[in-house]
Amino acid sequence: MSKVICAHAVSVDGFISGRTPDSQEEFGRGLGDAPMLFDWYFSGDTPSRVFDGFKLSEPSARLFDDFAARIGAVVAGRATYEHSSGFGSGSPHPTAPLFVVSHRPVTDLAGPQTHVTTGVADAVAAARAVAGGKDVGVMGGALATEALKEGLVDELVLHQVPVLLGGGRRFFHELPDHVRLRLRQAVAAPGVTHLHYEVLR
Ligand SMILES: NC(=O)c1ccc[n+]([C@@H]2O[C@H](COP(=O)([O-])OP(=O)(O)OC[C@H]3O[C@@H](n4cnc5c(N)ncnc54)[C@H](OP(=O)(O)O)[C@@H]3O)[C@@H](O)[C@H]2O)c1
Repeated sequence: MSKVICAHAVSVDGFISGRTPDSQEEFGRGLGDAPMLFDWYFSGDTPSRVFDGFKLSEPSARLFDDFAARIGAVVAGRATYEHSSGFGSGSPHPTAPLFVVSHRPVTDLAGPQTHVTTGVADAVAAARAVAGGKDVGVMGGALATEALKEGLVDELVLHQVPVLLGGGRRFFHELPDHVRLRLRQAVAAPGVTHLHYEVLR
């Protein structure tokens, strides 16, 4: 069965966006006062094979593109969707459709976007059904935590950026119990360390 992957750019103190995320952020990524979390997307000389316009360092490009090529559908929490200006009526991934999870109606969905109101497990199942055998990416700290609680996550990737943000939106929220991980790969690259974990069950 295809895997569920949560891959986020994260500060050393565990934040995936700044204190003031909003939809006006440069690149539309909703990072507010923390755009440095994604500097490594654009600070190298190796073009991404998957994402137009991204120029990464060679080790980052290799790892980033390997993960990006695995993704066949994306599931995102509502805040991720809203803080990224609805991904311009598209998807955060160039080819993968997007499933937005929210308890409330989302009225402005378009094109490759689908709204799921019945929780992250249903969203992952719906994403899997259209992913053509590829993996499902889960985006958003609250949603990633819900997915971990429900035992849905197979792999975690922390693109860890050497900054202490001091506040913002957390990658991981409270869990009812510990979750054991196995480190599969650690790649130190310019401006970011990529930590790839397998979730043990
Ligand atoms: N650094 C990175 O790589 C990265 C990646 C992704 C996102 N981000 C940033 O992270 C921030 C968003 O993360 P976040 O943790 O604040 O929020 P989030 O996980 O994107 O969204 C949370 C919302 O998703 C909905 N939701 C969550 N669990 C649900 C469930 N089980 N059933 C139904 N709906 C559910 C709820 O929406 P309702 O309240 O509408 O029900 C909840 O308020 C944004 O600023 C975004 O830009 C950063």
